[in-house]
Amino acid sequence: MLETLNPQPQDKILALIAMFREDKRTDKIDLGVGVYKDPTGLTPVMRAVKAAEQKIWADQTTKAYTGLAGEPAFSAAMIEMILGAGYEDRAAAISTPGGTGAIRQALELIRIANPKAKVWLSNPTWPNHPSIIKFLGMTSVEYRYFDVATSGIDFDGLMADLDGVAEGDAVLLHGCCHNPTGANLTSEQWDQVIALLQAKKAVPFVDLAYQGFGDGLEADAEATRKVVAAFPEVLLAASCSKNFGIYRERTGILVAITSADRKAVVQANLNFLNRQNYSFPPDHGARIVSTILEDAALTADWKAELEEVRLNMLGLRTQLAEELRRATNSDRFDFVADHRGMFSRLGLTEAQVTTLREDHGIYIVSDSRINIAGLNTKTVPVLAAAIAKVIS
Ligand code: LMR
Repeated sequence: MLETLNPQPQDKILALIAMFREDKRTDKIDLGVGVYKDPTGLTPVMRAVKAAEQKIWADQTTKAYTGLAGEPAFSAAMIEMILGAGYEDRAAAISTPGGTGAIRQALELIRIANPKAKVWLSNPTWPNHPSIIKFLGMTSVEYRYFDVATSGIDFDGLMADLDGVAEGDAVLLHGCCHNPTGANLTSEQWDQVIALLQAKKAVPFVDLAYQGFGDGLEADAEATRKVVAAFPEVLLAASCSKNFGIYRERTGILVAITSADRKAVVQANLNFLNRQNYSFPPDHGARIVSTILEDAALTADWKAELEEVRLNMLGLRTQLAEELRRATNSDRFDFVADHRGMFSRLGLTEAQVTTLREDHGIYIVSDSRINIAGLNTKTVPVLAAAIAKVIS
């Protein structure tokens, strides 16, 4: 049987991790996968996470199964953190293995509820979005998003394309810190997108993987809150990998906002999907998160450290924009300072990206996405000089 298998297409982000590992150069720079690194190059365990793990270790008396939906305390704390209070009656939720697990479960829910629904994706988007949709035999449609000329939003193109959304289609929106571009809608643009999607009777599907990495924990939730307030039904996939730094614990949540009288049946469908796909969701990461969010002192410490992380990335953005201005003698890359989140798409050709890797040991995704957090104050000028060289 297994002899019939063919190789699968490589994930371009994960392929880069292997290439970087094999590179023998000691001054190589990894700006590939979206993992935060502090100025010393480490991906630290956050202080509050360590403290929560100690508390769990001391207090936990059993490893017996939790509920199929995961711990209610985790769901409640996450919904409150993302959406604020007031959704208890309308929010069904399950814990999932990471944000990717939540996306997968959301897509399967869409497929059960409306097999004809198309899923609209920004062009570009995180490559795993179209990949999972295709794997599930569903249909995706792209809407324009990024303006290559300005490295900002192609808002006219976006609105023109979303005008083609049919009733019941799902429209995937990055809640903040767009991956891979780093370009984000303004608050007014969100209002216009919401009004258009309301008129189309679409189902918004928000992917929120970087809350706290852009303009702050509250500010980064604003667009999601607006969307959830404006529609009768919304799907929300959120990840704790980045903002809690618990990547390998696989901690995420899928929230389905519905009407109070549909909540029980929606929750039953979410539980069913967990049971079919992996039975009980992982618990440790979710318990770390709820332990932090239920304890005022731990929450304060976690927020303070998350803010340090965010400000470190913002500082690197400013420095990189300045160094690129100097190195290229142009304002071509000024957008780097305006983008938000871990990523910016630089607008380099694939050949230039290859030269950066081969000649300079600098690893960035082939679409020229860089992970800002892979830099430090010493490597920023190195990157700027290398970019100036490859574009000249
Ligand atoms: C990324 O985009 O680099 C991250 O979301 C990690 C991943 O799984 O691709």
